[in-house]
Amino acid sequence: KAKYSNVLIKINEAAADFYHRVLASTNAGKRGLDYAQERDLSADIIDHFRIGYAPKQNNLLLTYLRGHHYQDKDLLDSGLFVQSKAGEMFDRFRDRLMFPLTNEGDYVIGFSGRRLTKDKTEAKYINSPETKLFEKSKVLFHFAEAKKAARSEGHLILYEGYLDVIAAYKAGVKSGIASMGTSLTDQQVYMLRRITNNIIINYDGDEAGIHAEERAAKMFAQTGGFNLGIVVLPEKLDPDDYVKKYGSAKYLDEVKGALTPTDFFLKRLTQKYNLDNDREKLAYLDEAIRAIAQLPNPVEQDLYLDKVAREQNVARDSLKVNLLRYRRQNN
Ligand code: UTP
Ligand code: MN
Ligand code: MN
Ligand code: MN
Ligand code: MN
Repeated sequence: KAKYSNVLIKINEAAADFYHRVLASTNAGKRGLDYAQERDLSADIIDHFRIGYAPKQNNLLLTYLRGHHYQDKDLLDSGLFVQSKAGEMFDRFRDRLMFPLTNEGDYVIGFSGRRLTKDKTEAKYINSPETKLFEKSKVLFHFAEAKKAARSEGHLILYEGYLDVIAAYKAGVKSGIASMGTSLTDQQVYMLRRITNNIIINYDGDEAGIHAEERAAKMFAQTGGFNLGIVVLPEKLDPDDYVKKYGSAKYLDEVKGALTPTDFFLKRLTQKYNLDNDREKLAYLDEAIRAIAQLPNPVEQDLYLDKVAREQNVARDSLKVNLLRYRRQNN
């Protein structure tokens, strides 16, 4: 790896090595390793993603980095430590499984740490605070590697969680990335834009995930020029749970079956209405045709019109009359 001179990168890189070593080869890391095994993270995967463990004790990283002659001022700037009112410093991350977050050059600039316990009074994940180096809105987990993989895979796949990116990686998808949580930023959309137009969104299959997919799809549409696919996993599963339950091959089929934004929208729309009721079915058809009339490409319009007519068992020609009417209104 090339040399880096930024002291905050040095500190974060040293911390990543420390956490990783604690996890991989110390007694203090046994708790973390047990948890990692529970989550199906093999030694290879742990090495590849540089996953680590922040020990329970509250000053081991501090002692380690002071021992490497880093100044307290820089250590505080790194975001890895918190300070008591009396000015005493402590490790910010304790008893957590640590995921390093890297910049585009793959240097560590921050961390996300997952609690090991089921204790819901503690946040499931905590992240490094914003620093000069770590701007959450511009960070994508696994981006440095995914952008290389995008060349051969032909797309980038957007996930909600770190463990989803990792599960996908195990299944053979190396182009997975994740923002920190479900809200995608404009900066992240532009980062993706530079790499490829082909984006697949694969958030969790629960209601929150599907809503977030809707919002993300809108952002991509607003920027324009993207070719979007949207995966909706069954049974509210997230990709990590899905791979665990159904295996890699079935997961890859789900990705291949990604919906176009229009299919995604129409499918969501059918869930809004009770289609056994004629009044609701008419309302559904009206909303669907209006949406189809908004599509820029007439061939696409015809395709989805056919589909809706077939699925709802209504005459295509009468739908077409309304489609043409709405199309005129749009112009
Ligand atoms: P999820 O709740 O879906 O977590 O949040 P997950 O990725 O499936 O994690 P596991 O499997 O329960 O361990 C999705 C993402 O939202 C962010 C994290 O980036 C997480 O991966 N998040 C979630 C937080 O930042 N803080 C939280 O407390 C929870
Ligand atoms: Mn290792
Ligand atoms: Mn979720
Ligand atoms: Mn999830
Ligand atoms: Mn999960």
